[in-house]
Parts: sequence; structure tokens; C-alpha cells
Amino acid sequence: MRHLIDPTDLSVAETAQIIALAEDIIANREKYSQVCRGRKLATLFYEPSTRTRLSFTSAMLELGGSVIGFSDANSSSVTKGETVADTVRVIRCFADIIAMRHFKEGAPLVGSQYAGIPVINAGDGSRSHPTQTLTDLLTIKREKGRLDHLTIGFCGDLKFGRTVHSLIRAMSRYEGIRIVLIAPEELRLPEYMRHEIETQTRGVEFREADTLEEAMPELDILYMTRVQKERFFDEAEYERVKDSFVLDAAKLRTAKSDMIVLHPLPRVNEIAREVDNDPRAAYFRQVENGKFVRMALMYELLRWNEGLRPAAVPDLAPDLFADPALRCTNPRCIAATEDVDPLFRRSGDACRCAYCEAKIE
Ligand code: CP
Repeated sequence: MRHLIDPTDLSVAETAQIIALAEDIIANREKYSQVCRGRKLATLFYEPSTRTRLSFTSAMLELGGSVIGFSDANSSSVTKGETVADTVRVIRCFADIIAMRHFKEGAPLVGSQYAGIPVINAGDGSRSHPTQTLTDLLTIKREKGRLDHLTIGFCGDLKFGRTVHSLIRAMSRYEGIRIVLIAPEELRLPEYMRHEIETQTRGVEFREADTLEEAMPELDILYMTRVQKERFFDEAEYERVKDSFVLDAAKLRTAKSDMIVLHPLPRVNEIAREVDNDPRAAYFRQVENGKFVRMALMYELLRWNEGLRPAAVPDLAPDLFADPALRCTNPRCIAATEDVDPLFRRSGDACRCAYCEAKIE
């Protein structure tokens, strides 16, 4: 059964197929208005959302289907102690496809093992946000006309920013990609992502810049991010770094005339309002693309999984292995709070938790 837990669960060809379908949906809305008639999406949101949940909802309604779900875990039986595995086994009796957002890394992966219907990761902790990545790729394709030979600057919270992690993974699969990382010391890209860029990608160049001004002239895309207050265990540390990088009109003066500014949103203060009127500010156009790409994704996932029955044993990706002797101790991981199968993946010399990517020592 096909799920979308990480952007690389889709091959480059499949990603292109979904982007092309989204473009066709934009051009021919009526043609797709009933293609999911009778199908139900369940939105299981254990963490707040505006764009992702409502764009999934809008997307399924525009495909002719319907939507059930919860937007606040406190209104579900999670408060009584129900696990993710049990919740999805219940939801599959009511729905055909699940979009899950969870504050714990790896929760949608657990869901995908037990649901028996396709599970889409709508954002898990600091780890991954693959449908935001599809949104970003569709936006880049529409704004720049290509997904290769681009220099992209990622600015802000590169440590906890799951949209950054997912987009770097996805962009690294295209030719001629250069990445510039702009972040305070405390919010640098996690070790596992740096390791991935350095060792696993095809010729991606990356460098770090200390300031936005230093990076600006070379960028085709500037991907701004919010400092993720909700991920900090220490409030004082958040206060220290929260205003590190702010994009304003003055800083844009040295940018290319066709550079685009992306942001997954919500923003706090990292993009001054005056930038909104600059034609290079593409972040609200980016939001609308999110609905179309989620329409394309759900339509394809339902078609790819048509006729498949729930497996008798959990679906496991072929590169994962179980080892009861190993344990993940990352407090942000679903394995820290729920009784999940201990699953791991080899990555070079390291063994990593399959749910959160933490290195197992
Ligand atoms: N970009 C994004 O994930 O926004 P929400 O948190 O509002 O869903």
C-alpha cells in the first residue's frame, strides 16, 4: 500500500506526475469535480493547523468527496489514552484515506503501519511535511518554470523547521541545485540532514552564510521560516534567537529581479509586511497551490491503492528492520511515548530510528 510519510516516498517521476496533474486540475477544475465522489478523507490533527487542514478539506470537497476528522486531539479519545495505532484501525472503518498531523516525530509512520488505507503525513514534529514540499515544488515550477539549476537559500529555523528538511530532501534529487543555509548557531540544520546532504545527494552544493545580505544576490529562491516556538524546551533560548533574521524591503534591494520569496506560513515577524507588495513575494500564491497539489495527491493515492486490502501484518518499507534490543531515547519521537515496534534503518555507518532519524548509539 502506498502512503506519503516522507517526500522521497514518491520517486522523482511520481512527483512530476503529481505536479503535472495539479497543473491540469488548475486548468480544468470541472473535469475533476466528481472524481472522488463517495470517498472520505479523515483529517486527524493532533496539532494546530490553518492551511494544511483546511486545504486538505477543501481539496477533497472540490474532488466531490467528503471529510470527517478532528482538529484538536483533546476532542478525541486520545485524551483517554488511545494510541495512534488503535486510532487509525478505528478510522479505517469510516474513511478511505487519512491525513495526519502529530507533534511527535514518526506518528504518521506508525499510522501507516496499521491503517490499511493510505496515510498522508500532514506534518510530524520537526521531522517532515511532505505535502508542504509538494506545494513548494508546484510553486517553484509555476514561478520559475523548472525544478533544476536553482540556488535556494533557507533562512531561519533550520533545526526544527520540518518544511525545510522535507524540501531539502526533495530538491536534492534534481540537477544543479545549490543550497545556502542562513541560520543562527542554535538553529542550524540537524546533524542527520547535514550528513544526508554531504553523503547521499547527487552533486548538491551547499554552504552557510552569516547574513541574509551576504546570500541575497546569488539566490533564485529565498525560503523564509518562522522560529518554531512550540518546539523549544527552554523559553529563554527561544527569546534569544527569535528575531535573528528579518526580511524587509531594504534587504531585497540586492536580490535578483526574478527571485521569489517563499514561506510555508504562518509568519510571525520574519517577513516585514512591506514585503507583501513586492511581486517577488510568492507566499500567498504558494498557499493556493497547496490545495491543488493535495487534490492531485489524494486522487493519485486513492487510484494507486484501488482494490488493495489491508495487510495482515503492518506494511514496512523494505529498508527498515526491527530490533527489540535497540531503543530510541529521543523525547520528541513517537517511540518515547507509545508502545511501537522498535524499527531502525542503516544509514552509512550509523543506525537511525525509523520514526525520528535519531542516531542510535
Ligand atoms: N504550512 C503549514 O503547515 O501551515 P499550517 O500549520 O497552518 O497548516
